[in-house]
Amino acid sequence: MRRKRIWSAAAAVTLAMASIAAGCGDDDDDGDSGGGGGGGGGDVGKVAVLLPDSKSSVRWETVDRPLLQKAFDDAGVDADISNAEGDKSTQQQQAEQAITNGAKVILLVNLDSGSGAAIEANAKSQGVKVIDYDRLTLDTDANDYYVSFDNEKVGQLQGQGLVDCVGNKAGAQIAVLNGSPTDNNATLFKNGYDSVINPKFDSGDWKEIDDQSVPDWDNQKALTIFEQMLQKNNNKVDGVLAANDGLGNAAISALKQRKLPQVPVTGQDATLEGIQNIVNGDQCMTVYKAIKKEADAAAKLAIALAKGEKPTDTTTPIDNGTHKVPSILLEPVAVTKDTIKDYLGEVDFPKKEDICAGKVAAKCKEIGL
Ligand code: BGC
Repeated sequence: MRRKRIWSAAAAVTLAMASIAAGCGDDDDDGDSGGGGGGGGGDVGKVAVLLPDSKSSVRWETVDRPLLQKAFDDAGVDADISNAEGDKSTQQQQAEQAITNGAKVILLVNLDSGSGAAIEANAKSQGVKVIDYDRLTLDTDANDYYVSFDNEKVGQLQGQGLVDCVGNKAGAQIAVLNGSPTDNNATLFKNGYDSVINPKFDSGDWKEIDDQSVPDWDNQKALTIFEQMLQKNNNKVDGVLAANDGLGNAAISALKQRKLPQVPVTGQDATLEGIQNIVNGDQCMTVYKAIKKEADAAAKLAIALAKGEKPTDTTTPIDNGTHKVPSILLEPVAVTKDTIKDYLGEVDFPKKEDICAGKVAAKCKEIGL
């Protein structure tokens, strides 16, 4: 028994690594190698996971994919994970292919609500259940469940993080880099941080340099947009509200290129790069969302649906404009240089040896990591 468990853990790690190496391609796994669970299918339906891309955040390929794969493998459920690499018609084809291959449940991270709703309507018409994974698809009645975080809270943590980091610098000049305008989450993040920072602009405490959305969360576009903001404001900036670690890193790169001093920059996803930026003092905070919990909750729902059962998990109804979608929303937390140590060791948080590798080692020592 003990031996078997050790073997399973090793197999899972190997699998996770293989999944990462597999990158953007289809990762066809027949479910036999998980070792931990129900023995590979039976009359349990197949599950398909449709990831959005690998560039808007490293989370999808490096964290979500291996954790979802492991959750399904452990339960002995066949799961096929693909990544659309930002292409809506690719995602549509992947959904159709999955249904042709016998998927009974689809976990979808949409590229926008319109294309997501089309995928979901098609699935529904063929009796396939759909779970919105992380991003809610608006204005459709075809999503059965939604699993994510309290995304307004994510934004509030970012807003409060920036307020805390900027401190009482009067007249601080702030730039705002929002996520993709087609991602419902980006709207929710913005609602959250605007509720904290807009009062500062309104009272004249802070001055807003500019507020712009970054199409597709594209880091390269974020760099260009932020450079234009700097240009326009004669390189004067005292803080950046960036909606995730990738956008934050774009701002940090632009500041470095112009040899400007470090200023508070926010982020999200607790990526390795984001955490290293925090250790180095280039970024003031990130938001850690426990993706293992998100992946496990979504997998549990999917598995119940794939077995033809009615999930028993407690859900909250969330209105998507057409109906109330039964939802599971998890709690995000803010991470600063003082609290990184509290999360080391979590499977979905960067590892200390990776954070403190190479040039970052000395900085880690300085902050007691
Ligand atoms: C996710 C974030 C991610 C962003 C870009 C959002 O929908 O919630 O975690 O950083 O998309 O991929």
